[in-house]
Amino acid sequence: MSDKIYPVPADWAARAYVDKARYEAMYQASIEDPEGFWGEHGRRIHWFAPYTKVKNTSFAPGAVSIRWYEDGITNVAYNCIDRHLPERADQVAIIWEGDDPSEQKHITYQELHDEVARFANVLRLRGVEKGDRVTIYMPMIPEAAYAMLACARLGAIHSVVFGGFSPDSLAGRITDCGSKVIITADEGLRGGRKIPLKINVDEAIAIAGGVEHVVVVRRTGSPVNMVPGRDVWWHDAAALVTTECPCEEMGAEDPLFILYTSGSTGKPKGVLHTTGGYLVYVSMTFQYIFDYHGGEIFWCTADVGWVTGHSYIVYGPLANGATTLMFEGIPTYPTKSRMWEVVDKHKVNIFYTAPTALRALMQAGDEPVKSTSRASLRLLGSVGEPINPEAWEWYHRVVGDDRCPIVDTWWQTETGGALISPLPGATDLKPGSATLPFFGVQPELLDADGKVIEGAGAGNLVLKDSWPGQMRTVYGDHARFMETYFSAYPNRYFTGDGCRRDEDGYYWITGRVDDVLNVSGHRLGTAEVESALVAHEYVSEAAVVGYPHDIKGQGIYAYVTLMVGVEASDQLRKDLVTWVRHEIGPIATPDLIQFAPGLPKTRSGKIMRRILRKIAEDEHGSLGDTSTLADPGVVDDLVTNRLNKR
Ligand code: PRX
Repeated sequence: MSDKIYPVPADWAARAYVDKARYEAMYQASIEDPEGFWGEHGRRIHWFAPYTKVKNTSFAPGAVSIRWYEDGITNVAYNCIDRHLPERADQVAIIWEGDDPSEQKHITYQELHDEVARFANVLRLRGVEKGDRVTIYMPMIPEAAYAMLACARLGAIHSVVFGGFSPDSLAGRITDCGSKVIITADEGLRGGRKIPLKINVDEAIAIAGGVEHVVVVRRTGSPVNMVPGRDVWWHDAAALVTTECPCEEMGAEDPLFILYTSGSTGKPKGVLHTTGGYLVYVSMTFQYIFDYHGGEIFWCTADVGWVTGHSYIVYGPLANGATTLMFEGIPTYPTKSRMWEVVDKHKVNIFYTAPTALRALMQAGDEPVKSTSRASLRLLGSVGEPINPEAWEWYHRVVGDDRCPIVDTWWQTETGGALISPLPGATDLKPGSATLPFFGVQPELLDADGKVIEGAGAGNLVLKDSWPGQMRTVYGDHARFMETYFSAYPNRYFTGDGCRRDEDGYYWITGRVDDVLNVSGHRLGTAEVESALVAHEYVSEAAVVGYPHDIKGQGIYAYVTLMVGVEASDQLRKDLVTWVRHEIGPIATPDLIQFAPGLPKTRSGKIMRRILRKIAEDEHGSLGDTSTLADPGVVDDLVTNRLNKR
């Protein structure tokens, strides 16, 4: 924790949409009269038919139901594209920067319209209709955004799957939402390395079945297998259709997308977001948190496979008629200055990234940053995991030349958009704190018994009431939705995060309190990694926990018990790492695997993760009560053989 305060710079207070007094007034209004507040701000998007009802939400046990603007009619693609054409047809909507610094594209709003409408026609000709699910498994190329917006135009529900996921993970997501159409590319390109997307899609389809059409973007030109009748090249299909494609009329509560995310148990959940409330919320948070003014260049470094990419590369910026930068590559290729070179090349004004990238770049020293100008930057953002004060200070001093405020935005796939974040013209900053709630957001801290913590203190972070960007359900499983988020504390949305509130009412997110890991800003369930490990023929049992990692935030520590007769070896350790990468994807690569003859269990057979976490964190001096263990002796072995490579 840091007790330093960075006051709002005077020029920011003057130019920003919201200063301190206005934040206070708007926040109060949003809490006292949510109907009035959101009724007014809902009109920031275009409605084909206006809503008469604003908020109809309940967190009541067994009857959770979330509806915003429910009788309004609109279309997300219309709001992100068509609506801007009279004024901005020739303005750049998307700047695309390729993996190789020699490749870039500038796509105007008119071009965006034409590409999206064309592709919507391609999908329509393949039978895609309102409500159908379409899976998008793409690299960071403009076609990924076109595909998302084409679905929105038709009223189809997209499910974007991060290109780093394995065929198995992709197959699970295709099956869960029953999509018959997949959009992909021959290969992805990151840091000069090729990613076999089409091969993965073919494998996934073989597992999942039921896929009727695959549309393939030619990105690298490497030869790929095209199944006649099923697979078609994007450019071939797009050449046959027109740029005329009307926007489907969508009810505010019609689904916009599904995005799979990990929880503490079971398979990843299909988080469902709908049309009206989501767009109002992401467009409003984008404008106010990034204090976006017309003509500025905004760059969010996330992948469109994550919610950050959905909300703050595509929907939030485009709903505001902004210019959004989409980057195909990685921060360190071809040099450690790449991010800042891109900033200089495209005159980026607002830069939004994850702490893990900053920590990695920080290790390379100041020189790769200082050798660039970055004079265009005026605001920096952070998202995805807690940012340690050292990284925050470095970001502020070295990247921002002590000139740019930092907005540390706390939110989740489930929340649609940022919920706790500074507003740069209104909020004094404290390094490491996400600061204060956005309009309409009512955080509360509860202790283990559900008692409300008033004033300064720490507890589990819950939200007292709904906001328009909130997820509506788990796709196909409303019971799981209620169980996961609303059963821990009645009438509250439980975030899964721990949090502290200081004397000034500032929030400091301390990280997940459940069995969800946050590895380099990527969310993973311990249960997923465990089930991948036990699927290996030599593994009898596995328990996975997180441990503090200097760059990744959290590393993956796996305790593995082998089948009787199987010999532990470094080779087997490597094999298991490869196995997990193959089962889930490289983001799930275990950092440390400790072979253990036994795992600490209660007499009823439940693994005591608390103990495993303490050992992994090197806090075995404070293991707590181990007397309830069936065999307290296993703990000694675990402590003795603990791995200690950071
Ligand atoms: O633990 C919190 C952490 O990331 C989790 C949500 O992950 P995901 O759904 O993948 O969405 C990430 C991008 C919005 C949260 O439960 N988290 C996210 N942002 C922050 C954060 N932790 C601390 N500070 C943040 N700014």
